Amino acid sequence: MWESFFGFKKTPFSDSPDAKQLFASQAWNQVKTRLEFLAQHRGTGLITGEVGAGKSTAARVFTATLNASLYKILYVHFSSGSALDLLRQIASELDLEPARFRGDLVRQIADAVVRLNQAKKQHPILICDEAHLLPHPALEQLPLLLNFDMDSSRYLTLLLVGRPLLRRTLSLQMHEALRQRIGVQYHLEGITRDELDAYLAQQLKAAGVSQPLFDETARQGMYQATKGIPRKVNKLAMTALRLAAASKSQTVNEAILLDAAAEAML
Ligand SMILES: Nc1ncnc2c1ncn2[C@@H]1O[C@H](COP(=O)(O)OP(=O)(O)OP(=O)(O)O)[C@@H](O)[C@H]1O
Ligand SMILES: [Mg+2]
Repeated sequence: MWESFFGFKKTPFSDSPDAKQLFASQAWNQVKTRLEFLAQHRGTGLITGEVGAGKSTAARVFTATLNASLYKILYVHFSSGSALDLLRQIASELDLEPARFRGDLVRQIADAVVRLNQAKKQHPILICDEAHLLPHPALEQLPLLLNFDMDSSRYLTLLLVGRPLLRRTLSLQMHEALRQRIGVQYHLEGITRDELDAYLAQQLKAAGVSQPLFDETARQGMYQATKGIPRKVNKLAMTALRLAAASKSQTVNEAILLDAAAEAML
């Protein structure tokens, strides 16, 4: 086991970091500020980023910090499907038995959302993850859910999360109603070269190892191979540590890093 070779108490570079393991990069702080604003002021937000940049993690860790008696998180993770499927998923998240027809569903969701705000004093935040995969008719449903009566109150907060393609989709004329409602937005980039050093040290320390295990050439190579994208960094770091342990090397050097990058398919 490579973990015991280095003396780790737990596996570093975890797939699902909790708030404590989360690395507070500059980009994460920017996202956090915007999500805090969104939760307080309501409305619609947009987070985009490349694959593995940490979008879902940011949404998950942030919503976990919200007071559950004041906010209800409706998380829809949409891979493909019709507008009807999207509405059904939202209805299920609201603990409703979804109606059969689209018009009834919209009304059912709208009633439940108003009830939550008024009777339970709980504000719903709808998170559409992988929103770049939403077909146009599904995206077009969303503005209808944001103002469903004459009342100007914001009963539903919407957070769209997706890959860069989502920005192009939203720029289309047909999505102007949704685009106009977006009050906060951020494009999440990878961590910087300096942050990578801090991230590696943080992860190793959190797993019980305080000496540096990656030499300078390995860290440089890691940045080039990953551009600081957290999922790539984690995969490459773990692969490199496993290969180092297999060759009884106490540190990761450039040669091991290059082998690891090939094995990790980066
Ligand atoms: N701030 C962070 N601190 C520590 N680890 C992180 C952080 N952000 C992301 N990660 C790591 O990166 C991995 C990928 O993050 P995440 O799944 O949130 O990316 P994503 O942008 O949603 O990717 P996809 O486009 O594939 O949905 C996570 O499993 C986690 O291990
Ligand atoms: Mg994601």
